[in-house]
Amino acid sequence: MKKIGLLTSGGDAPGMNAAIRAVVRSGLYFGMEVYGIERGYAGLIEDNVVSMEMRSVSNIVQFGGTKLRTARCMEMLTKEGKDKAVATLEKHGIEGLVVIGGDGSFRGARALTEEYGVPTIGIPGTIDNDLAYTDYTLGFDTAVNTCLDIINKLRDTMTSHERVSVVEVMGRHCGDIALYSGIASGAEIIVVPEIKFDMEEIVAKINSSRANGKHSNIIVVAEGVMGADEFGKKLQELTPYSVRPTCIGHVQRGGSPTMADRMLAAQFGNKAVRLLNEGIGNRVVGIRDNKIIEMDIIEAVSMKKEFNYELYETLQMISM
Ligand code: F6P
Repeated sequence: MKKIGLLTSGGDAPGMNAAIRAVVRSGLYFGMEVYGIERGYAGLIEDNVVSMEMRSVSNIVQFGGTKLRTARCMEMLTKEGKDKAVATLEKHGIEGLVVIGGDGSFRGARALTEEYGVPTIGIPGTIDNDLAYTDYTLGFDTAVNTCLDIINKLRDTMTSHERVSVVEVMGRHCGDIALYSGIASGAEIIVVPEIKFDMEEIVAKINSSRANGKHSNIIVVAEGVMGADEFGKKLQELTPYSVRPTCIGHVQRGGSPTMADRMLAAQFGNKAVRLLNEGIGNRVVGIRDNKIIEMDIIEAVSMKKEFNYELYETLQMISM
């Protein structure tokens, strides 16, 4: 394969720039021409294609966001949109495509592969960590670290005022950001979409922690359950302790990627291009048991994510 394309799609995630760099540099290493497609599938449909050179990706490894920009593109769900996308690839002679994004982005890649025979490689780039086939997605580690920084600060002020903090984190329908940031911040309670919650039990846990000498409580609520404001109001009706809601919001999507995310980006990007260089398409790359893996894109997008109940129990046992 001599000409490859690259796009970032869906919600951005820290580490996308590092992955762009890895794809471009690996492609150039193999003597390929690499084309960046701006604004995700929208840019593919509208022919926003730029040639990527060695220096196009200098000095970006440390930045959040995506140099290629991104979009959520409904047109890619239509036959017309997909026809236009493929026409752009043909116009530039692009033989294979690397797609960095989440579930929705992979569905676009799958359609290009299945319906048009375009070899695609998916790199999991989303803070949500909601893809079943990989232990971690690019951006998750940085997002959780951002949450930790904020929760640490909340703990300071909540303890001074003896309050209860309800912190809303992202994740769409997946509770992983709440689970990991809850455990790592020492939150007493996490509320995730995968597990039914009982407000009375939460109140009992707050009461018992206070009886045991605690001066504040942190409750991390995944956005897929409820917003912090609504949750905070319901809780306030049942407890004498003062409750304060905080929604972390899009701060989670930005910022300099952590070492873990930069390492994933380097390895995912390099692996994606190695596959295309061998003429292999229709795959996704990921990490499982600390090893970089690849698998069939159709199989990957149809897998169902399993919640880590053991980690959830761990939090129950050590946070009180
Ligand atoms: O998928 C990433 C994500 O940040 C989710 O956690 C969140 O629900 C959503 O995107 C927010 O989307 P938008 O940036 O369109 O507001």
